[in-house]
Amino acid sequence: METTQPAGSEQARLWNGPSGHAWVDAQATLDHLFRPIEALLAETARTAGARRVLDVGCGTGATTLAVASALGGAGHCTGIDISQPMIATARERAARQGSQATFVCADARSHVFAPGSFDLLVSRFGVMFFDDPVGAFANLHRAAARDASVRFIAWRSAAENLFMTTAEHAAAPLLPKLQPRPAGGPGQFAFADAERVRSILKDSGWHDIAIEPIDVPCAMPEADLAGYLSRLGPVGGALREADAQTRAAVIDVVRAAFEPFVHGEEVRFVAACWSIGARAEGPAA
Ligand SMILES: C[S@@+](CC[C@H](N)C(=O)[O-])C[C@H]1O[C@@H](n2cnc3c(N)ncnc32)[C@H](O)[C@@H]1O
Repeated sequence: METTQPAGSEQARLWNGPSGHAWVDAQATLDHLFRPIEALLAETARTAGARRVLDVGCGTGATTLAVASALGGAGHCTGIDISQPMIATARERAARQGSQATFVCADARSHVFAPGSFDLLVSRFGVMFFDDPVGAFANLHRAAARDASVRFIAWRSAAENLFMTTAEHAAAPLLPKLQPRPAGGPGQFAFADAERVRSILKDSGWHDIAIEPIDVPCAMPEADLAGYLSRLGPVGGALREADAQTRAAVIDVVRAAFEPFVHGEEVRFVAACWSIGARAEGPAA
């Protein structure tokens, strides 16, 4: 399927550069970790009887492939993502699995979708990175059929997701240049405030907005933890620039800080998320 040139925003730079490559490298670990959320979205597509599904910010395609498989021959799932390396990985996976899922490399804010072309839009952690969220959700609204609905999963606050900030808290004394996460901008916790999400969706034309907290148990093998903490998030970014000695020291300190999440051969935590639902049109007057 088509590829449009990603926009020149900071998010496009990150996801086509360090963040995108880190997610490609850690694809198997991340997919294991977030499989319960992939399963939840695939089940939503199946029970909704959706025929044309869009996976927004699909990354390396796990959810797109799971939705396509849940639909079987009865429907089609398209993934859209701004990251060329992640979409390349998604396409390779689809080809390997013989999946009918297709992928578009483009900015969900500006991509020209055929109007009314999807009856369900889903996302696993792919909708919190828009520079212009109202513009992006308005563009997605144009892509939605009149009776379409959405189910997006996004993180609640950093304070409710200690697993996600353990690395940066532990590493801070060793990495003085580690930047704090920018408040209020696009990023992992940009949708922490449910009222902000509600107003973004309302201002972009969505109706019947329902935002529910869900707590999703997630796990990965302990053997994957060192690779996870040294590649991803702000610490993963800082370690790419660090010398070998600092890198080894940080990995030691950070690994120790994750001990409360380690249970024998497994690492476990509960992902504190929002399940965000909305409909393209309100009830008929
Ligand atoms: C945290 S990752 C989640 C990826 C995938 N949904 C998953 O769960 O594995 C966020 C994704 O959003 C994508 N993204 C960020 N801004 C985007 C935009 N404006 N349009 C499309 N995708 C975007 C990134 O490239 C990245 O793949």
